[in-house]
Amino acid sequence: DYRFVLAVTIAYFLGNISPSTIQARMRGIDIKKEGSGNAGTTNTLRVLGARAALITLVVDIGKGVVAVALGYWIATPAAAMWCALAAFLGHVFPVLLKFKGGKGVAVAFGVLLGLNWKLALAELGIVLLAVILTRRVSFGSIFAAVAFPFLCWYMEPDFIYIGCVMAALVLIMHRSNIIRLIHGEEDKVNISWFKKK
Ligand code: G3P
Repeated sequence: DYRFVLAVTIAYFLGNISPSTIQARMRGIDIKKEGSGNAGTTNTLRVLGARAALITLVVDIGKGVVAVALGYWIATPAAAMWCALAAFLGHVFPVLLKFKGGKGVAVAFGVLLGLNWKLALAELGIVLLAVILTRRVSFGSIFAAVAFPFLCWYMEPDFIYIGCVMAALVLIMHRSNIIRLIHGEEDKVNISWFKKK
């Protein structure tokens, strides 16, 4: 069905839009070469400050919500799930940015919001708890990805296969964070990150 192909293609390119990369470029910075080298909310906070990070978070979550809505709107509920995966892959592996994207956490939260907001809130609770307890954002993301298959099985079984692919990719994208965490070298959320830069 052409509507399915159209929705999935649009979702993928929506995922390519990187508010972190764009805001950094506007200031003459290559976000992939600063801080952790990731085009996501945490590194935007680290490198560009709170305002840019908030914009990154809202836009990245929004991409996920819009992609799922698009799937429902021009195709079917099953298409919404494939649009969710397409937006996620478009964010993590963006062809328009030479495949240098983010780690997929915010966009994954966005697609969950669109598919099942209760599951999204459960994941948000896990992230917040883990970040508050460890003061390391990556730990929150990793913990949420590990918990995801169990929550999904319980709350949204239809999404379990696609969801597990996303959770596995989130873990793979955090491989350098995992190594830093093991060596005790991962930086903690720092008040100086929030200051205007
Ligand atoms: O979602 C990204 C976060 O978990 C880690 O970001 O920049 O510390 O690698 P970063």
